[in-house]
Amino acid sequence: MTQTTPAAGPVVARTRDELRAARKQLTDGDVAVVMTMGALHDGHATLIRTARQAARHVVVTIFLNPLQFGPKEDLSRYPRTFDSDLEICTREGVDLVFAPTPDVIYPDGDPGVRISAGPLGTVLEGQSRPGHFDGMLTVVGKLMQLTRCDSAYFGQKDAQQLLLIRRMVRDLDFPVTVVSVPTVREEDGLAMSSRNTYLTESDHEVALCLSRALRAGAEHASEGPSAIRRGARAVLVREPLALVDYLVLVHPDTLEDVPEWYRGEALLAVAARVGTTRLIDNLPVLVGPGGGALEVFSSVPTAEPA
Ligand code: PAJ
Repeated sequence: MTQTTPAAGPVVARTRDELRAARKQLTDGDVAVVMTMGALHDGHATLIRTARQAARHVVVTIFLNPLQFGPKEDLSRYPRTFDSDLEICTREGVDLVFAPTPDVIYPDGDPGVRISAGPLGTVLEGQSRPGHFDGMLTVVGKLMQLTRCDSAYFGQKDAQQLLLIRRMVRDLDFPVTVVSVPTVREEDGLAMSSRNTYLTESDHEVALCLSRALRAGAEHASEGPSAIRRGARAVLVREPLALVDYLVLVHPDTLEDVPEWYRGEALLAVAARVGTTRLIDNLPVLVGPGGGALEVFSSVPTAEPA
């Protein structure tokens, strides 16, 4: 049975049958999906708002996907805040929330057949988190099938994830339009993330060096790749409490380091551990004369079709 929350909020579906029944009602127009692992914040809300502006119906999935967490990662302590998540979905006018448990998504246990991210899934985040992107793509593919969505909205915050989802949709012919939404930041520049709740106040101060480094790097965009990397690294080395995993300037499609002669769009990306928390951030940069950051540092949503 599907149930509606009292405050005329979204229909909440927990099982496949409930989802099927609720999805059947959304017939008079296109359906956009925003996939999340819960602990919703303004970044997620902006994705929902952007989807809302473009599509007739918005479905939000809330599923903490065990398949994309490594054995030593933070699955057990990941924040679970369903009631406030539902409030946000109600406020943002979401039609349907699909919030299944792992046994609903993986009725036979961990699936033997998975979607492989291929070589792009082994670099950057994939190097530190083996199997992460296969687990992520497998659930994103399943959720696209289960929700029968026309479009799906993802954050630029997770640039490698976004790239891999675009590739999966192209390579495997999913009939879904992928839309990216710029990174939403705190006023101080920190990229919003469910994992920011792990940060103590002093961790938060330390974590600011990530976005500062990206901005500092982008200021050297007109001088070329090595000046950008140097500018960003100079900020990171002044913060010894941020344990940098990588700082790279890569091509946005191949994730390969751009050579010194490169001019055009590149991705300046960083990952670092602050306290017990692994954080990532990135900034699209135009390299070359007149270049600079390709992100407006604001929380105003702007949708860019795939
Ligand atoms: P989660 O981390 O909950 O993020 C859900 C979506 O919100 C992703 O598309 C992510 O890029 C986007 N997002 C998170 N923080 C953002 C920010 N500060 N600005 C803009 N967008 C932001 O990413 C996942 O979940 C999972 O991997 C998922 C795709 C749901 C598959 O399990």
